[in-house]
Amino acid sequence: MADEEDLTNGARFAASVPPRQEPFPLKGCGSLDWGMQSRLARVFRPDTRRPGSMRTVMLAIDHGYFQGPTTGLERVDLSIVPLLPYADALMTTRGMVRSTVPAASRVPIVLRASGGPSILRELSDERIAVGMEDAARINAAAVAVQVFVGGEFETQSVRNMTRLVDAGQRYGIPVLAVTAVGKELTRDARYLRLATRICAELGAHFVKTYYCEPGFDTVAAACPVPLVMAGGKKLPEADALTMAYHAIENGAAGVDMGRNIFQSDTPAAMIRAVGAVVHESAKPEDAYEQYLKTPEKEQGLWPTHPPAAAGSRPM
Ligand code: R5P
Repeated sequence: MADEEDLTNGARFAASVPPRQEPFPLKGCGSLDWGMQSRLARVFRPDTRRPGSMRTVMLAIDHGYFQGPTTGLERVDLSIVPLLPYADALMTTRGMVRSTVPAASRVPIVLRASGGPSILRELSDERIAVGMEDAARINAAAVAVQVFVGGEFETQSVRNMTRLVDAGQRYGIPVLAVTAVGKELTRDARYLRLATRICAELGAHFVKTYYCEPGFDTVAAACPVPLVMAGGKKLPEADALTMAYHAIENGAAGVDMGRNIFQSDTPAAMIRAVGAVVHESAKPEDAYEQYLKTPEKEQGLWPTHPPAAAGSRPM
């Protein structure tokens, strides 16, 4: 039954207090629609050490879309699902989402939305591979598209991105532009500034790119939206943690690492060490120390114990 007293006698209007306004903390994203901001806030989480900023540790496992069962991804159910509690977001394909990723894990999905050629062909010849309606059906937090600046099919890949941005604007789904570097292109600051800026200018809501030295700070500074560092080829764990540390210190809003996590001898320890660098500002040597101190039961590329229940974060 309706309570009429409540309607007439409420007193907590605080009429003299101005409305609370909270600026959206991600660079360049302050004027995005609420749905976009809400999805981005699922991928990036508030940084407890630096109030007012947000960071992410994305786990990239989308390699199969052009190169099949990559080392470490032969059995995503065994090698990746146990890592989900430590990832802020999972970058993967819709096939892997529907077949293998437990919906109950609640991990935000950054959905690979471009594809076409395999490693046997010209990689830049990609097309859009997912409709935005299906991304919405999957409850994707964002979609990801490869952009090949300087590549053979440069214009086509840029067009893939701009079409996804148009669709993303309609549905409130952010687009992550992934700057792809072909064999013939140098990953120096000059090239990465060009590639990342083109993606942002043409509407990408956040951009993934490689770390470079020197000059990563200029790449991050010139990109008006959040920049996420790509992992790249497997490095020794200490080197990968050092690279992530420098990227964050020089302006990256997070990392999106694949092989450097799932090809590690101890993937769960590695993703936690990366998390310490990104979210707790741990020095790389301390994070590496933490990595080395992983309990013995977690050693080994292959899990020897059944996957943890979806959503539970083992201690
Ligand atoms: C790279 O271009 C794709 O997005 C990947 O398949 C993946 O995200 C790369 O991750 P990583 O280089 O860290 O293994």
